[in-house]
Amino acid sequence: MNRGSRPCEAGTAAPLKSIDKAFALAGDPQGAVPKKRTREVVAGRADEVPEGARKIVQIGHLSIGIFHLKDGYHAVRNYCPHQGAELCKGSLHGTHRPGAVSEFLPDFSGRVLRCPWHGWEFDLVTGKGLYDAKSRVMTYEVRVNETGDLILVV
Ligand code: FES
Repeated sequence: MNRGSRPCEAGTAAPLKSIDKAFALAGDPQGAVPKKRTREVVAGRADEVPEGARKIVQIGHLSIGIFHLKDGYHAVRNYCPHQGAELCKGSLHGTHRPGAVSEFLPDFSGRVLRCPWHGWEFDLVTGKGLYDAKSRVMTYEVRVNETGDLILVV
C-alpha cells in the first residue's frame, strides 16, 4: 500500500493551497482566522447527531464533518492538511498537557480528532494541529435553530 498517495475522488476536496489561502495570519503566531463567512445552510436535523456522534455533509464542493461534543456542535473541513485524507472519518481522543516528570495531566477529552491515514491530530474546537502549530484544519460555525435544524455557516 502506498501510504503517501491521495484518494482519487475528483471534486470532493479542494487542493491544499486553497486551504492555506483561506487563512489569514492573526497576531497569535499559532493562530489563523478563517475569512468571514455569511452563507447559512441547513445541514440536517440536530437530533440526527446525538452527543458523541458525527455527521459528514457535502455542501457544494465542501465536505464538512459536524461533531456533537459535550459542549455542543463543532464543524471542521473533511480534509487533512497533511495529505488530504478524509479527516472526519478519524477517531476522537483526548490528550495530555505537558507537565513535570510523572505528572499526568489529561486534557481535551473527546475533542482531539486523529487523521485515519497518518495520525495527525487536531483540536476540533479550534482546528489547531497538536503536532505542528502551523497545521490547522478549517473550522466552521454550526448551531441549532429554533426548529431543530443544524445551521452551518460556510
Ligand atoms: S493525510 Fe496524513 S495525517 Fe492526515
